[in-house]
Amino acid sequence: MTRTRGETPSQPDVTVRPPETLAFGAPRPSASTDDELEPVRRGLVLADKFVIEAMLGQGGMGAVYRANHRQLGAMVAVKFMRSSLLESKSVRARFWREVQVLARCRHPGVVSILDAGEHQGTPWIAMELLHGESWASRIAYLSMVPSEALEGVAEVFKVLAYVHKQNVIHRDLKPGNVMRLTSGAVKVLDFGLVYEETEEDLRITSPSVVIGTPAYMAPEQCLGRAPVPASDIYSTGIMLYELLTSRLPFEANGPGDMMSRHLYEMVPPLPESVGPGAASIDALLRQLTEKDPLRRPTATEALSLIEEVQAGLDPVALARRNALERARVGGLGREERALRPESSRSPTLRPAAPKGLVAVDVGDPALARSLRGALATAGIGLVMPGEGAAALVLVDVSGLVEDRLATAAHAHPAAGVVLLGVADLTEMAAAVRAGARDAFLVGTSEAEVVSRVRSLLRRRS
Ligand SMILES: Nc1ncnc2c1ncn2[C@@H]1O[C@H](COP(=O)(O)OP(=O)(O)O)[C@@H](O)[C@H]1O
Ligand SMILES: [Mg+2]
Repeated sequence: MTRTRGETPSQPDVTVRPPETLAFGAPRPSASTDDELEPVRRGLVLADKFVIEAMLGQGGMGAVYRANHRQLGAMVAVKFMRSSLLESKSVRARFWREVQVLARCRHPGVVSILDAGEHQGTPWIAMELLHGESWASRIAYLSMVPSEALEGVAEVFKVLAYVHKQNVIHRDLKPGNVMRLTSGAVKVLDFGLVYEETEEDLRITSPSVVIGTPAYMAPEQCLGRAPVPASDIYSTGIMLYELLTSRLPFEANGPGDMMSRHLYEMVPPLPESVGPGAASIDALLRQLTEKDPLRRPTATEALSLIEEVQAGLDPVALARRNALERARVGGLGREERALRPESSRSPTLRPAAPKGLVAVDVGDPALARSLRGALATAGIGLVMPGEGAAALVLVDVSGLVEDRLATAAHAHPAAGVVLLGVADLTEMAAAVRAGARDAFLVGTSEAEVVSRVRSLLRRRS
């Protein structure tokens, strides 16, 4: 097997953060930014106005540059669509959708658009230049204290209350798409995956295509269902967890595993290291990340909930509450601790390789044979059909996910854990929906697949 670009073999239980937005389903933007150099644009003059200077940042869809507005003598930011995506009609359509939504959504918390156009076939957007740093860079060196995180997230909810009222769903909220300005203000960027309930949008986004960034995707997004405003609330909940801890609530071995966790696992309790107020923020987090979108608060309700938590963080109120908590025999919190999953965050010895795995030949027999060899070499036991397999690996089930799963379930009734090799992330979501606990892209390295099998077996035992 060859390695898919952008994937690196990882040890079990290493957090995988797909670095950028993936609009799953072919064609999709590459997750990698390093190996796709954008053309040198310094000095380029756009629309006789904007002189391009240095690059400011890159995402899954575009490259953003600082530019000088010649006539106004003011600096702006210009985002060009990534050259590798120019061929894709749907990505182009989304780029123009972002332009139109930004033009309509004028709000202090939304980056303002100034102009847009096409330069030699490459669409671009000129925006106000923001001075500050993205939340992603901010938490890379230090997590936020509760007051800062709550204030920031409240600003995001203000934006959401505004855009949701206009039937606009952002669909890609994550720390890389929020900036904290040096003035302290917070701005939501990147409406490149925005969803509007219009016929036009249904055309750009066929219903079964899974879109988003797996680490922040709400369960309904993982299922490929039409996004709802509550999907943004869930993603903001995941961001809140990450702002406070500098880590994602779910550690996963890949996008399929990540989606399965959003679907089936609760966000773990916030660690006590978050500091005073952790319990009340945790209660808020539980509401924001309800599996059922109907049970999540709206953006406006979330704002009131944050205000309540903030009021509780007031030092006097907090001291009083802590005293009350202590008086309650200390039983509280034990249950929460019991719910905390066996965490790989505390160093533990790696258990011996679990036994009882079947690698099922589906698709390319040579791939299956080679993977079986790798599993055996890794000390993972292989058994025959009907011998009580604990887990199944289905190799290359592209286009046949549900069928293959049904046949395999019949042949291996005891196997509860299923890992599939699929063609793209839409198939990955279909696999998870059909009961698989993880899926990997065909082309993923053997070492990576073996490590995921190991991790799945360990979770099951
Ligand atoms: N208006 C802006 N001013 C300054 N930097 C920006 C601006 N817009 C985007 N950036 C930087 O560029 C990065 C990518 O922008 P984004 O709109 O998220 O692109 P993509 O759609 O490719 O994900 C952001 O994380 C941020 O660092
Ligand atoms: Mg982005």
